[in-house]
Amino acid sequence: MDGSDGTGLMRRDVLGGIAAGTAVAAGAMPAAAATTKRKRYVSVGVGSRNRMYQQAIWGPHKEHADLVAAVDVNPGRLALVGKLAAANGAAAPKAYLASEFDKMIREQKPDVIIVTPPDAFHDEYLVRTLEAGCDVLTEKPMTTTAEKAQRILDTVKRTGRHIRVTHNYRYAPYRSQVKELLMTGEIGDILSVDFHWLLNTSHGADYFRRWHATKAISGGLMIHKASHHFDLVNWWLSDMPVEVQAVGKRDFYTPEMARRFGLTGAHERCHTCPEAAKCTFFFDLAADPDLKAMYLDAERYDGYFRDQCVWRPSITIEDTMNVIVKYQGGTTLSYSLNAINAWEGYTIAFNGTKGRLEHVVIEQAGISGLNGSSMGDAIQTRIIPMRGDPRDIPPATGAGGHGGGDAVMLAEIFDPNAPADPLLRRADERGGAAAVVIGVAANRCFQTGQPVKIADLVTGLTPPVYPKMPDHTGPVPMPRPLKKV
Ligand SMILES: NC(=O)c1ccc[n+]([C@@H]2O[C@H](COP(=O)([O-])OP(=O)(O)OC[C@H]3O[C@@H](n4cnc5c(N)ncnc54)[C@H](O)[C@@H]3O)[C@@H](O)[C@H]2O)c1
Repeated sequence: MDGSDGTGLMRRDVLGGIAAGTAVAAGAMPAAAATTKRKRYVSVGVGSRNRMYQQAIWGPHKEHADLVAAVDVNPGRLALVGKLAAANGAAAPKAYLASEFDKMIREQKPDVIIVTPPDAFHDEYLVRTLEAGCDVLTEKPMTTTAEKAQRILDTVKRTGRHIRVTHNYRYAPYRSQVKELLMTGEIGDILSVDFHWLLNTSHGADYFRRWHATKAISGGLMIHKASHHFDLVNWWLSDMPVEVQAVGKRDFYTPEMARRFGLTGAHERCHTCPEAAKCTFFFDLAADPDLKAMYLDAERYDGYFRDQCVWRPSITIEDTMNVIVKYQGGTTLSYSLNAINAWEGYTIAFNGTKGRLEHVVIEQAGISGLNGSSMGDAIQTRIIPMRGDPRDIPPATGAGGHGGGDAVMLAEIFDPNAPADPLLRRADERGGAAAVVIGVAANRCFQTGQPVKIADLVTGLTPPVYPKMPDHTGPVPMPRPLKKV
């Protein structure tokens, strides 16, 4: 036995399919106290991201929401949710293994299911939830392949129910501000977009330690990470992608690179690594009590290592990717993503017939020692007219996760009195699919070298309801004369 599950995936890469975990009994926990007025929520996949929803339900939104059950393949993480509930003065949600999902629906009669397992497992829960007649919200990416996206779109059509996809990046105040600026028409008709996203060797390297490094589970960074970015461009432009070209490669997170750095090569994981002292990519899972409780102590149930070696040969995702996307309205996007930089963040420029909007966000510069230099964390937004003086726009900011966007989004999800949103940031399955298909197409290009038409990937994908952009077809004043220099 090589430890693979027969599909070539190693067990420690795969946290489990929907029916996994049948062999281990779920931790016995008291059922949540019965409530009538508050909506009954269930969390599926109670790892790190789900904590945000738990805290929202037990904290600012407890008047409107109850977490009545939790579903996972790992009884260790299920037990943790019970402990966290108690620490937050809430009733422990009833724990169910993934194999008991249908039983959970029968017993708990949830109003809304929150889907946060690894990316490739979303579709199964989305389809079963829609068929059970419950509301559902899913973390991005909505799914990982064209076939799964098609299955979701077909189920939406058959059931007449919709999915909410929590594309939280739209809600960051400075990104919402960019949308507002584009909607004013100040830069005119947007002909092209130059968008470059940088991941560093802390958070960026982390993708290569976890399930994210297995393309069959995460879809690779084109899906797992870039779905955020493709969704932003789709929404910023209020447009739909039609064709994609791309190249991608993995050049850095490789055994060869480990050897060039003076290591003997790749190892299995950091926790037992014989060369830990020599490797600055060493990740100490035992040092952080939260990470230890969530992953190290729960390994005995599913064999999943959260600190796998970033140099190991079994990684199947790219670290360096370049993509060109054509949009229905004629705009072209030039996008790149790579995972080996000193800082995290992005630069984006919208090139319009009347001017250019530039937006730069620099995060985590200090972790690589940049803050002591001329460079530090920053948000910059600037409009540069075709001819004339640039205008710096003070960035809108907010507090909390993902630039302050998460709290705004959570209020919209849980608070029945949340105000209507003129920016239409709430994404459904159409927005979820429109983001994912660009990544799917890029992944296909990586293999074939050929452009991919979105219409060849899925059928029945209609444009989401996006905010209306200004009509630029009428006459415009000639720009002021060029200056003699
Ligand atoms: N919007 C964002 O900014 C953001 C940030 C982080 C993660 N995410 C998304 O959230 C999801 C979870 O990511 P994470 O970082 O919490 O991962 P994680 O590994 O910390 O947690 C995943 C959980 O799902 C469980 N699980 C695995 N297989 C399952 C199955 N078949 N059924 C039920 N549960 C299963 C695991 O045991 C684990 O508890 C992913 O889809 C990820 O893309 C989104």
